[in-house]
This record gives sequence, structure tokens and C-alpha cells, in this order.
Amino acid sequence: MNKYLENLNNQKITIDSTPLLEYAKAYNIPIVKYESLQIILSFILAKKVEKVLEIGTAIGYSAIQMASIKKDLKIDTIEKDLTMYNLAIKNIQTYQLESQIKVWLADAREIDLAVLQKDYDLIFIDAAKAQSQKFFERFKDLLKPNGIIITDNILFHGLVENQEGLTKNVKKMVEKIDAYNKYLATLPDYRTIFLTTGDGLAITMRN
Ligand SMILES: C[S@@+](CC[C@H](N)C(=O)[O-])C[C@H]1O[C@@H](n2cnc3c(N)ncnc32)[C@H](O)[C@@H]1O
Repeated sequence: MNKYLENLNNQKITIDSTPLLEYAKAYNIPIVKYESLQIILSFILAKKVEKVLEIGTAIGYSAIQMASIKKDLKIDTIEKDLTMYNLAIKNIQTYQLESQIKVWLADAREIDLAVLQKDYDLIFIDAAKAQSQKFFERFKDLLKPNGIIITDNILFHGLVENQEGLTKNVKKMVEKIDAYNKYLATLPDYRTIFLTTGDGLAITMRN
């Protein structure tokens, strides 16, 4: 990230997320890239987003960033890994954001939809990359008519475009990401904008 712009962005930032960034780096925990986060935060402010559903909490970094920029924002975030869930809960407590962020310990493929809201303004898909399409199909009907779905890592470090020399497992995963991107591009009733930002971001809206 450009340090000059980062300093400008930080002028109105109310929390210090350095410990979370350092933890994620030290333990190799994938979190949303800086520029992608800025786009998500811009949508939250510009569209006056009130409710967010996040698939993939990890240590709570993105949820904490989203909650901090808008004090009346409510977030449901789903995490299947117990260690990550516990870390997220601890971090959310540290930043005193328990009233804004609810973490669900569950597999997003199986969570009971009845426990979630029916009218999210924003759905952020950031869990197992090979399953993004499953998550999209499972949660799209919980989106408000004018809501948006943002999917992260649609380029997966450039491997989706250049699949040469990949191991069988990685190839299988990037093929699924590729299929998802093409599915989004041609989906009736929706329009998706694809960006190179961060690790690639898809921004999907209903027509
Ligand atoms: C990229 S990390 C999330 C990063 C987080 N959104 C951030 O930017 O701070 C992906 C997380 O999704 C979780 N995950 C993967 N598959 C999942 C599933 N089916 N249901 C719920 N969580 C899942 C992983 O355990 C991991 O912690």
C-alpha cells in the first residue's frame, strides 16, 4: 500500500489494528488486503449499510474494521474453525465491539439460515475459496434488493489466470474459482464488476 495514502486514510481511523495485522502476519492467517478493505469500507459508508453478513471470520480483522467505521453497523460473521472463532471473540472483546459483531461458530454450508437476518445490505464472501459459489447460492436470498455481494480472492495470487505447473489440489481449487468467476459474469438478474484490487474482488449487484 502507498504509505502516503495510508496516512491520509488513517486520519479518521478510530482504532489501532496493528496488533491484529501483526498477529495475522506472524501466524500466516489470510486476511483481507488493505485496498480491498478500503473498497468495502467505502461501500459501507456510501450505501449507508446497516447489516453485513460475512462468510469467513478468521481472527475478526475485517469484521472489526467494518464495525469500527460505522457505529450502528451490525455484523453476522460465520467461522467454522474453533481456534479462529475463539481468537475472533477475544479480539472483538478487546475492541469492545460485542454489541455490533455476532460470530457464529458454524460451517457456512450448513448453518441454519433461520438464525440469520433476511435483509443484509452487504454480504462479504471470504471463506474457503473453492466454495465461493456454494456460499453465493446459499446466502444470496438474504440480500436486500439493492444490496451487494463482495467476493474476495477471485484471482488467487494470479493462479486463476495462469494455471501452469500447479499441483493437482491447487489446480482443482483455482478451476473452481475460475468457474465461479464465469458463473458470476453470466448470471441472469445480477451484474458483477471484477477488480484486480488486492487479490481480486468481485462486486455483485442485482439488476
Ligand atoms: C480468508 S480467512 C477470513 C479473513 C477475514 N474475513 C478477514 O479478512 O479478516 C477465511 C476463514 O474462513 C474460514 N472458513 C473456511 N471455510 C468455511 C466454512 N465452510 N464455513 C465457515 N468458515 C469457513 C476459515 O477457517 C478461515 O478462518
